[in-house]
This record gives sequence, structure tokens and C-alpha cells, in this order.
Amino acid sequence: MLNDSQQAFLQKNEAAEIGGGKDRIARQHAGGKKTARERIDLLLDAGTFCEIDKFVVHQCTNFGMEKEKIAGDGIVGGYGKIDGRLVYVYAYDFTVYGGSLGRVAANKIVKLQKMALNMGAPIIAINDSGGARIQEGVESLAGYGDIFYQNTIASGVIPQISVVMGPCAGGACYSPALTDFIFMVKEKGHMFVTGPEVVKTVTHEEVTKEELGGANTHSSKSGVSHFLGETEEETLMMVRELLSYLPSNNMEDAPFECSDFSVEDDPSLNEIVPEDPNKPYDIKQLIEGVVDDKYFFEVMPLFAQNIVVGFARLTGKTIGIVANQPAYQAGVLDIDASDKAARFIRFCDCFNVPLVTFEDVPGFLPGTMQEHNGIIRHGAKIVYAYVEATVPKITVITRKAYGGAYIVMSSKHTGSDVNFAYPSAEIAVMGAAGAVNILYRKSTEEEKAKALKDYEAKFSNPYRAAELGYVDEIILPQQTRQKLIQALNMTQTKNRVNPAKKHGNIPL
Ligand code: HXC
Repeated sequence: MLNDSQQAFLQKNEAAEIGGGKDRIARQHAGGKKTARERIDLLLDAGTFCEIDKFVVHQCTNFGMEKEKIAGDGIVGGYGKIDGRLVYVYAYDFTVYGGSLGRVAANKIVKLQKMALNMGAPIIAINDSGGARIQEGVESLAGYGDIFYQNTIASGVIPQISVVMGPCAGGACYSPALTDFIFMVKEKGHMFVTGPEVVKTVTHEEVTKEELGGANTHSSKSGVSHFLGETEEETLMMVRELLSYLPSNNMEDAPFECSDFSVEDDPSLNEIVPEDPNKPYDIKQLIEGVVDDKYFFEVMPLFAQNIVVGFARLTGKTIGIVANQPAYQAGVLDIDASDKAARFIRFCDCFNVPLVTFEDVPGFLPGTMQEHNGIIRHGAKIVYAYVEATVPKITVITRKAYGGAYIVMSSKHTGSDVNFAYPSAEIAVMGAAGAVNILYRKSTEEEKAKALKDYEAKFSNPYRAAELGYVDEIILPQQTRQKLIQALNMTQTKNRVNPAKKHGNIPL
């Protein structure tokens, strides 16, 4: 039997849990969106959510705000478990002042960010917000600043994940942008620094919010978002899946999860890479043929598809994969591909995830568009990221390894630990036809044909590089899984440390 104060507490608790009230919850549902609490329940292991600061209220007295105080102040947050591991989570509650961020709500988020950092556990933010709480003015802006500060301090120490399930506008975009991964829900999540009305006023450009900052736009054009979910449920399940590949912090290794101990040769892999260097093939077929359970968890699948990045496992250990994609623009490296790969490499290095690179690259994309937009500056990021990475680095050259792109795609020269090449590998300054056109411009067709043959014999193979030790071992495609597992086990005790410095100066 509960006494009066206990009864009163339960009533207060119930009131806090309905946030902005039943009508606003109904409106949220009518818009095809779940509430903050429903989202957290879907994300976490059942019954593990422990809420903090449930009764905090804003202290604002502007515009009659003192007359309405809603417990929790528009953020539902706390800690719980995903697959039995501790995580921190907070969700903007759109039913409370449109999920807008005030001083007290920001304090709650910062408290959680500090707890996550102190305990060494990932933090997940679920965004659905009207942005800065207009009534609180600069106090709200200060709150954002405090959140950004914690995002930056925690970067590289604990995984930080953002899930955009509603509006996320203005400066509010910069908290997700500072985190490691952004998930967006199709047709529900929107991110932009300035909305369509402001765009129209300033530039006279007419654009819908979906086109300007919808999930499709940010997953395929801007590269802001890493994952696109069809529904809220699917998106939250993807967050759980991503975390299964990651350690809880930078001092740990990723969880070991093995259901595939096979190491047998797979002759079907010998069929994937065509000998003709100009023929496309899907590198994902090779990746899937090699990794545990033939399962590859791709990151940014719709952006810069000429490079493929993502997570997989090899006999239970998480690996980060970076691979040129010959099926898309021949796997050429351009500005977007460079940014995508470099950021992924750096994430893996922060969190002790070994890197496996599959290389089949014709070079960097030529042209004024790329040069004027800074392919030199952006391409340098991949070199920097690979060199700086101290995690085990293993490379498989499947076919073309031409020019500067050969060097940057985790070559021995930029610090790779083990380099394999298939017999079909071509390690050269450029392709045979291009080279002959430059060297024999003025020669007869007959001379050119002979030169082409000579060039192919000399350079269109992995043997010269193997003679010089630039390739450690030439292997058949069918051996790839076993060879990668052996190399991964061999490099497990790798203990390389870069010289002490405040931080390097990566070209940005
Ligand atoms: C206070 C807000 C609010 C805000 C919405 N509400 N945004 N209250 N501050 N920023 C309230 C509304 O008054 C309304 O209250 C409720 O939330 C739901 O809003 P609606 O407009 O009815 O919902 P909807 O039609 O779905 O539109 C959602 C919206 C729109 C697109 C987010 O509300 C909107 O444009 N809001 C303003 C967005 C904005 O400009 N924010 C500032 C961005 S600048 P009632 O009581 O009627 O339910 C910024 C700077 C950050 O954020 C800088 C950081 C460095």
C-alpha cells in the first residue's frame, strides 16, 4: 500500500512521461513519427532504460513561459544497454515546445555526454527538434555551444552516433555533424543550415525541404549522412547493428562475435576479377565472398560509390574495409571518395579496428572540376589517414594499381603491414595504352603495337613489385580469406606509436 507522498510521486511521474500532452503525442503519431520514449524503448534492450533528470524544468520567464513548465524540458535521456553493453542515449521530445533546446535541456544533454565519456560508453542522440528555443535567446545558443564542446572532446574516445528523425535545422546540425555517424529516416529526417524559406529570400532559389536536406540528399549528394533507414524501427535496428562492430571506447577492442570459422579456399573467387583491365566488376561480390557469413555492413552505400567502406568480421574480429569499386566510374578516386575513405580510416584507427583495403584503381579523376575544387587537398587526406593509422593494415591488390593512387591506397610505402596481390594485378605508373600514347606519340602503328606488348609484359603484372618487396605475397583469389585471417592474426600484437605531438595538421 503506497502512502500519500508515494502516490503523489507516481502521479508526477506519469505526468512527466506524457511530455507535451496526449494531443501533441497524437499529432506526433499522426505525422508517422514515434515519441522520444517510444524511440528509446525500441533502441535499447527491453527494460534496461534508466532515465535521469526526468523532473528538470526550464527557468525561462520570457513570453509567458513561466506559466507552463513541462517536466523533463523536452529531452528524454539516460542510460541503458544494447546487446548487454552500456550506452547513453537522449532523444529530443517534439511534443515539448517542438523539441526546441533551452538552457536546462542542454544541461541535461551535457551531463549525459560527460557521464558517457567518464564511463567510456557510446552515446546516441535522437534528433527531432525546432532548434534553438526562441524564448530563451542566447541561453539556448550557449547550450548548443556546450554540447558541441563535449562532442569535440569526446571525439575519438567514445563512439558518438546521431539519428535524425525529424527537423534538425540551423546551428543544431553541428552536433550531429561532429559525431561519428549520422542516421536519417526517409521522408522524416531533415537537416539544413537554412531552411527553404530563407534560401528563397536570400538566393531566390525554390527548393523543397526534402530536396534541400532530406535523407536521400544527405545520403547520396552531400555525404553528411552515413545511413538511410526506411522507417524509424529499421533505422534504430541499424544503430544497434553498427554498435555490434564497435568497441565501447578507444581503450577497448571491438566485441568478438564469431559464427564462421571456415578457412577453406573458395575457387569461386577466382572468377570475379576479369583479366581485361577495362571490364567492370562488383568489388562487393569479392568482399562478401571473403568475410564471415558473407556479410558486409556497408557505411555510406549511396555516396561516392566509386569507393566502398564498411565493417565486417574475419573469424569474429571486426575489420574496417576500404575498397575501390570498379563497377562505378571504374573505381576512380575523386574528391568525395577521398573524403569518404579518409574519414572512415580515421574512425577505424581511433577505435582499434584493423583496416583491410581492396585495391583496383585507375588513378585520380582528371579535369578542371576536380582540380578547381581541390582534389590535391582532398586526395591528400587518404594518404594522411592511412599513414597516421597505427592499427593493422592489410592490402589486397586485385587488379589495377596505377600512379599516385597505387601509393595512396595503403601501399607498403605508406605503412601497410601486409600487401597481397593477385596474379591479375597491374602495378604501374599508368595503363599500357596511356603509357604508349605518351612515349610513342610519333611512332608508327606497328611500333606502338610492339611497345604496348613490351609494356604489358613488363608492368601489367605484380612481379616487378614483388621482386622489389613492394608486394609481400602473390596469392590466388581463392586463398584470400585464409590469407587475410593469417595476416590479421599475425598483426594482432602490432604496437606502433606515432611521435608525440599536440595533433597533426591533416589537410582539411
Ligand atoms: C520554441 C518552438 C520552436 C522553437 C517550434 N516550436 N520551434 N518553440 N522555439 N525554435 C513550437 C511551436 O511553437 C509549436 O508550439 C510546437 O513547437 C510545434 O511546432 P509547429 O510549428 O506546430 O510544428 P510543425 O508544423 O511540425 O513545424 C516544425 C518546425 C517549425 C519546422 C520545426 O516549428 C519551425 O520552423 N520552427 C522554428 C525553427 C527555427 O527557425 N528554429 C531556430 C533555428 S536557428 P505549440 O505550443 O503550438 O505546440 C537555431 C540556431 C542554433 O536553431 C544555433 C546553435 C549554434
